[in-house]
Amino acid sequence: MKIKFILNKNEVEIDANPMTRLIDVLREHFQLLGTKEGCGEGECGACTILLNDKPVASCIANLIHAENGVILTAEGIAKTKIGTLLIDCFDETNAVQCGFCFPGFLVSSYHYLKTDGEPNLEKIKIALSGNICRCTGYQKIFDSVLMACEKLDLS
Ligand code: FES
Ligand code: FES
Repeated sequence: MKIKFILNKNEVEIDANPMTRLIDVLREHFQLLGTKEGCGEGECGACTILLNDKPVASCIANLIHAENGVILTAEGIAKTKIGTLLIDCFDETNAVQCGFCFPGFLVSSYHYLKTDGEPNLEKIKIALSGNICRCTGYQKIFDSVLMACEKLDLS
């Protein structure tokens, strides 16, 4: 079945089984390897993408869910002003260790900055509660997002 959608601002079409997992479409068909597979069960957030402006675990979504929709992956977000700001803040606070979880954190953090953006630690913790990191103590990640909210507010 042919399915069209917008992927990182480009119109794309793929002819595939509509039940193919979105993570496989992104990684294998489009070589968007920033979308990581951790648990494969919708629990860890490593595979988070924005589908129609909402964070979605792409390991438990199927290609059919993307039909005529809009997908933004970590790669697309990294090219935006907010994405660049977040990456700079992650760098500045040394928040990244192995980096496996970070594309997912970037997507969830970007969504928070776009939809709320209040520099409020408790809200940020809730916004990132679907993302698991096995390396860090989370505090530096929260600090980075807080910093990005403050910088965005000032800009
Ligand atoms: S790999 Fe999708 S939520 Fe863990
Ligand atoms: S930095 Fe290693 S899993 Fe988060």
